[in-house]
Amino acid sequence: MKITPWEVSGKIDYNKLIDEFGVRKIDENMFNEIKKHTKEIHFMLKRKVFFAYRDLKWLLDEYKKGNKFFLYTGCGPSGPIHLGHLQIWIFTKWLQDKFNAELWFQFTDDEKFLFKDKSYEEIQKWTYENMLDVIALGFNPKKTHFLINTKHAGLIYPQAIKFAKKITFSTVKAAFGFNDSRNLGEIFYTSMQAVPAILPSVLKNKNIPCLIPLAIDQDPHFRVARDVYLKLGFYKPAIIHGVFLPPLQGIAGKMGNTNSASAIYTTDTPQEVKTKINKYAFSGGQATIEEHRKKGGNPDIDVSFQYLKMMFEPDDKKLEQIEKDYKSGKLLTGELKKYLIDRINAFLKEHQKKREKAKNMIEKFIYKEK
Ligand code: TRP
Repeated sequence: MKITPWEVSGKIDYNKLIDEFGVRKIDENMFNEIKKHTKEIHFMLKRKVFFAYRDLKWLLDEYKKGNKFFLYTGCGPSGPIHLGHLQIWIFTKWLQDKFNAELWFQFTDDEKFLFKDKSYEEIQKWTYENMLDVIALGFNPKKTHFLINTKHAGLIYPQAIKFAKKITFSTVKAAFGFNDSRNLGEIFYTSMQAVPAILPSVLKNKNIPCLIPLAIDQDPHFRVARDVYLKLGFYKPAIIHGVFLPPLQGIAGKMGNTNSASAIYTTDTPQEVKTKINKYAFSGGQATIEEHRKKGGNPDIDVSFQYLKMMFEPDDKKLEQIEKDYKSGKLLTGELKKYLIDRINAFLKEHQKKREKAKNMIEKFIYKEK
């Protein structure tokens, strides 16, 4: 397996990642700690879609003492938003609601310009398009602040150089596997992503705890910046790590937008969703109906089942029934796929309406310097 913020491939062993990255597994105790405040446990926690953390115990202890935290996450605007992005943000929205927390949301147009073979103008277009999807998820406009790296450079850059000064090229090389031919912007970039975790503290001139929900491939940025937060006199941000939503082709790697046949986009039509799932979603079912009835399917490697489990079937009882019926052979792959297609299309129908309305709301979300 290979995991950096810019490349995820192979069959991912999350337990091994926990050791390699030095993060902690979310266990029963942590469920209980979270539940004390949220009253219920989100199905994505229960099902280990969010499975690991850094400093979360500390963050919740501070919260108990009345020291509230803010949330920070982000989006690299290089193409259309797919279900994999939404998985992290839907959970982030739940955290915002449960903890009544402010959210700082970073759009890294600089990053995507530097790392992708795309023009600055195209990246700006995606920044706008991606903002619509984030707004459509229903974040509270009064408590959510968008930062666009090149637009808010005057705010971010003075802090970014403080990180940059304390991170060496050799550290970045080791963390990301960069060689000497990487461009200067790529080497500097982690400093930009580190900043929103302290920005509210800088603006209010007091230390405020921060929680970052992210997919685990983003963790290396914060691992590199971790000690610097302390050196600069701030708290280290707490982190909660999500797994990757798999691509349609199978449970290795992550859904991405390098190949439009591996992802479902928020702007896909019902027919496109249907075709993609039917044609590409890897099935854990048997080759023929007779064989399937006899041997049953394997939900663990079945992408459609995994999408239900990770995002589209919050009801534990229904999911259990589906799993049981699929394993026994009572439920066929085609039926499972149809169930998923209907779920995704019902979700996207609403999402696309809200996405249209979001066009009038962008200015409310973009952070305005006082
Ligand atoms: N680099 C991330 C991406 O490519 C975007 C991002 C910026 C981010 N800040 C973040 C993601 C903080 C998670 C948490 O998608």
